Amino acid sequence: MNGERGFIMSKNIIVGQSGGPTSVINSSLAGVFQAAKDLGASKIYGMRNGIEGLLNEQYIDMSEYLRTPMDVEILKRTPSAFLGSCRFKLPTVDKSPETYDKIIEVLRKLDIQHFFYIGGNDSMDTIKQLSEYAEAKNITDITFMGVPKTIDNDLAVTDHTPGYGSAAKYIGTTIKELSRDAVVQPIDVVTIVEIMGRNAGWLTAAAALAKGSDCEGADLIYLPETVFDIEKFLAKVEEVHKYKRQVLIAVSEGVKTADGKYVCEAAATNMKVDSFGHKQLSGTATTLAGIVGDKFGWKTRPIEFSTIQRCASHIGSLTDVNEAFLVGGQVVKAAFEGATGKVGIYVRVSNKPYMMNTDIYDVKAIANVEKTVPQEWIINDGTAVSQEAIDYMNPLIQGEIYPYMVNGLPKHIKL
Ligand code: F6P
Repeated sequence: MNGERGFIMSKNIIVGQSGGPTSVINSSLAGVFQAAKDLGASKIYGMRNGIEGLLNEQYIDMSEYLRTPMDVEILKRTPSAFLGSCRFKLPTVDKSPETYDKIIEVLRKLDIQHFFYIGGNDSMDTIKQLSEYAEAKNITDITFMGVPKTIDNDLAVTDHTPGYGSAAKYIGTTIKELSRDAVVQPIDVVTIVEIMGRNAGWLTAAAALAKGSDCEGADLIYLPETVFDIEKFLAKVEEVHKYKRQVLIAVSEGVKTADGKYVCEAAATNMKVDSFGHKQLSGTATTLAGIVGDKFGWKTRPIEFSTIQRCASHIGSLTDVNEAFLVGGQVVKAAFEGATGKVGIYVRVSNKPYMMNTDIYDVKAIANVEKTVPQEWIINDGTAVSQEAIDYMNPLIQGEIYPYMVNGLPKHIKL
């Protein structure tokens, strides 16, 4: 096939990873790589640090790193973004036409026919801009496609996102484990766990998965979809404390008070903002623990799951890993069939038994849009989630995928 262009078209592809990593973003990368290889791609390039790296002509030939099927399997089990990531907002064409000229120049230099970007709603803005630019400039020989990803689960249209199931499994598991530790001493103690997800409470809702016959789970769960009232919160803590001395609370990093301010903003001296205008959220649990401690004088313990929840691949969901791999491959297949300006999505066919299909959807409906938890799933005056929410999350955390262990620790692949 090589060297016979015009007879059978050889295809080169390039793939990048963008935004916050997940436990399974590399499974999607593996899916892209494997499908492109199986479909006869000549060269499979990887952007170093997403579009930001590409603009500086930083890329690798992925075949040099993924030489054997075992390498691909290890990649699937390696957390975080193998290629490196970025949070880089493409300027609009009118503001910086040279940025687009540069991207096309690099793609032409590498003879790329298919461009793939694995990312969340911000990163899909890159696919939207590039596919619109290609359309406007009548560039018909390069397709631009998005592969979904985000622990936040806040992408529109898709049933859920790759990365969410594994992070939810970590959260459910760790809340279970913490709930054992939190009650170990006969003293008054309030444990407050801060969970990521920005303005969407999908991940925090996963704390509810911990509850079962062997675990009381979290006593109070606060999502960012409802206004956070400090006085009401304190009253709830006191209410729970009346029947148990150890209170366990899960709170989203993105909870806001009625004035629209993040709770963690009160504690931040110099809050960092990324290129998409997102404030770096951190410190909610510490802030609330301080308030509870001051009010009641009890021991408090703030715990921020922070980045651990998105890289804990040792407790990954097999369903999540398999789906992430699958959707990566499906997007490649669609691109090879001519699709452009589209993103892979999951379509839930049924819950019991859980059945899921993949499809592709117009990037314009997904880029820059945040999907939040439905209000009717948030119950008990904003302190719990409904059975419907649990039924939605439960299939996504099913199945175990263990790392390959070497010398007692997980084996990973790195550049
Ligand atoms: O979007 C994914 C996410 O993990 C959010 O839940 C979180 O607020 C954000 O990324 C943190 O980003 P960073 O690691 O760049 O500070």
